[in-house]
Amino acid sequence: MNEFIPMSRPYYDEEEIEEVVKVLRSGWITTGPRCREFEERFAALAGAPQAVALTSATAGLHLVLRALEIGNGDEVVTPSMTFASTVNQIVLAGARPVFVDCDYDTLMPGAEDYARAVTKRTRALIPVHFAGAPADLDAIEEAAAGVPVIEDAAHAIDTRYKGRHIGGKNTAIFSFHPIKNITTGEGGMVTGSDDTLMRRLRLLRFHGIERDAWKRYGKASDPGYDIAEPGFKYNMTDIQAVLGLVQMKKIAAITRRRAEIARAYLDGLKGTGLDLPGTPNYDHQHSWHLFVVKLRAMERQDFMAALAEENIGYGLHFPACHTLSFIKRLCGMVKLPVTEEVAARIVSLPIHPGMDTAQVQRVVEGVRGVLS
Ligand SMILES: Cc1ncc(COP(=O)(O)O)c(C=O)c1O
Repeated sequence: MNEFIPMSRPYYDEEEIEEVVKVLRSGWITTGPRCREFEERFAALAGAPQAVALTSATAGLHLVLRALEIGNGDEVVTPSMTFASTVNQIVLAGARPVFVDCDYDTLMPGAEDYARAVTKRTRALIPVHFAGAPADLDAIEEAAAGVPVIEDAAHAIDTRYKGRHIGGKNTAIFSFHPIKNITTGEGGMVTGSDDTLMRRLRLLRFHGIERDAWKRYGKASDPGYDIAEPGFKYNMTDIQAVLGLVQMKKIAAITRRRAEIARAYLDGLKGTGLDLPGTPNYDHQHSWHLFVVKLRAMERQDFMAALAEENIGYGLHFPACHTLSFIKRLCGMVKLPVTEEVAARIVSLPIHPGMDTAQVQRVVEGVRGVLS
């Protein structure tokens, strides 16, 4: 029997392991100098003046909505075709999610979809850079007409829009969950240029305390503190940060390998009765975080069962958010025809840089065989 090919697998080697061991040996394992270094390096990658490291992108969404004081009576416009985390945070903040439909090929809404959804109550737009492709930021900002655009960049490490890395323009939230293009085990990063907002995020991520713990516990330091606004406990540890620092050195190679696998699928799966992922028609670099196909003739349950027989993994990104039970209770019936159509047909195929050519070929042949 062939070995199992998972849909995703984190990509790290001895270098990450050695760096983690060094942090463990150093005696300082929580938020400290390595975390600061990771923030600086990530901000430079994104082309943003500042970055704040957190325990997850979900924590980032929570803190950004809170820092912008978005809550009761406010509306936040976002795609339904996204991970539930985005929508959970909008609802938990007390605001109402207003969902926009998506394009069949890219699975992202167009600017006109956002423009139609903006009302007097809209406090933010949260576009999602889906599967590693960038949303059309210039057009979406125009549609926002001055309302803040917060980018869900969980899939967008090494994604570029018109020559610039995502995160250099608006407040953007990245994820380092193990499925993501680089990982810190769990983790997230907010990049941005609004000094007041970024300062508030730093406070809110650690109880509302002004200074980092490693400065309070240093030699001859002042261990006292004051709290002007109570905060949460979302600080990234140095153990996680060194993982991120080593992973960052590998980003170009990771994107290259992901793009090669995507190319092999785009060529090898032509004419199989699958709709292959469409890419945006504006200048961009795709980071191929996910490879999402749409089934045309075969039931998804049968397709997934047949892939399992072949020892090939798969994923589902994502169930449409507007059809989740708690959203139906909150928002009633919302009709988004394209999202509903694609949500029933999408399947994510294995894509991760550790896959070798033989494994990629096995996926191509396995999928072709299942569909024939
Ligand atoms: C689009 C999107 N937003 C947000 C998140 C949340 O990321 P995290 O797991 O780091 O909280 C994810 C995670 O998969 C995601 O796919």
